[in-house]
Amino acid sequence: MGVLDFLTPVVREVGRFLLERLGNAQSIQFKGRANLVTEMDRRSEERLIQAIRAQHPEHAILSEEVGALPGGSGQPEWILDPIDGTTNYVHGLPHFCVALALRQGPQLQAGLVYAPYVDELYSAERGQGAFMNGRPLQVSATPVLDDALLTTGFPSDLSRASDTNIEHFLALMPRTRAIRRMGSASLDLCNVAAGRLDGYWQPTLPIWDVAPGAMIVEEAGGRVTDFVGHVGAYEGNIAATNGKIHLALVAVLQQG
Ligand code: IPD
Ligand code: CA
Ligand code: CA
Repeated sequence: MGVLDFLTPVVREVGRFLLERLGNAQSIQFKGRANLVTEMDRRSEERLIQAIRAQHPEHAILSEEVGALPGGSGQPEWILDPIDGTTNYVHGLPHFCVALALRQGPQLQAGLVYAPYVDELYSAERGQGAFMNGRPLQVSATPVLDDALLTTGFPSDLSRASDTNIEHFLALMPRTRAIRRMGSASLDLCNVAAGRLDGYWQPTLPIWDVAPGAMIVEEAGGRVTDFVGHVGAYEGNIAATNGKIHLALVAVLQQG
């Protein structure tokens, strides 16, 4: 029995619930100038927390909207992003997902991401490979940055960001095949794991944007580091690739 099994039907249920209400979110609130949260983020979060608490009352939870819910000493921690891609969701764009990860201390143990519009369920447990709807995932074989299709994201409030990512974007544009910006960090990472994209980078990310997809990229044979090539942070400046283009990507990111 895998550690994610009890949550698989729950994330599917939450995803379907969100999809049925796509573009109809009421009571949109602002955490910053353009950082949105809706009652759908909160309802998704409540359902996920309830399911985890019912199965593992002793585990800790760190979730984007409610923050930290402490568990017993030395217990694993669940990291939740109840909707990744809320801006897309509010505008009726169906590129969004429910994302969660499990960690023990600093080490990630599992990641689960569900994109309801395309009905894609991504999952990985450490040492057991990564899967999408039960099929094994493998990162791309693209050997060089010149031929790479990358994706990235930008901070919601550029005026207050310590790194706007604009310089990295401009530096990488002429050195890659193309760069996308799709609005869900977890799905960006899952698309790297699936070999549809060769790499992803973004500065100053919180752990709930990184941990679920990072686990899936690593188990699909990819590499996840910070912008200087250190492994294991899973928050802050993140570069995730098929491994083959990693040094070349990080070399550009280090320059600015
Ligand atoms: C956002 C998305 C987006 C990324 C932002 C995140 P949210 O998460 O992952 O792709 O560029 O930095 O904040 O707010 O939709 O959960
Ligand atoms: Ca997010
Ligand atoms: Ca979110």
